[in-house]
Amino acid sequence: MNDTPAPAVEPMTLKIGDPAPDFTARTTQGALSLSGLRGGWVVLFSHPADFTPVCTSEFMAFAKATDQFSALDCRLVGLSIDSLPSHLAWVEAIRSCFGVDIPFPIVEDPSMAIARAYGMLDAHAQSSATVRGVFVIDPQGVIRAINWYPASVGRSVPELLRLVTALQVVDREGVMTPEGWTPGADVVVVSDLTQDAVSKAGPAWFLQYAKMPRS
Ligand code: BEZ
Repeated sequence: MNDTPAPAVEPMTLKIGDPAPDFTARTTQGALSLSGLRGGWVVLFSHPADFTPVCTSEFMAFAKATDQFSALDCRLVGLSIDSLPSHLAWVEAIRSCFGVDIPFPIVEDPSMAIARAYGMLDAHAQSSATVRGVFVIDPQGVIRAINWYPASVGRSVPELLRLVTALQVVDREGVMTPEGWTPGADVVVVSDLTQDAVSKAGPAWFLQYAKMPRS
């Protein structure tokens, strides 16, 4: 598959820190309002199309990791512009072909209203397919992370678990997480930018690690 970009026609407007646009939609598990999930974390992710190989592999990986997301108080919500009957047939085919249940809702978006609100429509595709978008939404309904992958490359579910975990540690502990951080590893702390603090911290004042949990 060729992911060579053509000129974009649909600007992506949502940014980290924006409120996640609310929607109510039919899903494979009944009607769902995004605002009804407030109070917990949400990973809202779009995929290009049902019954496609990369998407199927991603959905099975998300399905197998659902308990790990639940342990983080994080709900998974899939979305594409395919119809609800298509989603239901795909979920059933995944169950019968691969023995994997999809335990999270998949939103239908035939009018593309949700995909447009989130900038998920693939501006470079001839079709109305959604790109592989991920929006991590916090318990207050604020977008905390966004990532985009092309149709040809599957996402890493362990990386998304790591991302949600890191965001929660950042919120809880008032720290930041360095490259490749995983639970149990050292975090980084923001030093005061004063002469006193800098001279106390020494020459490496600009990168200070701290153990977790911090005492
Ligand atoms: C997929 O395998 O998920 C896929 C393939 C072609 C176009 C879009 C998605």
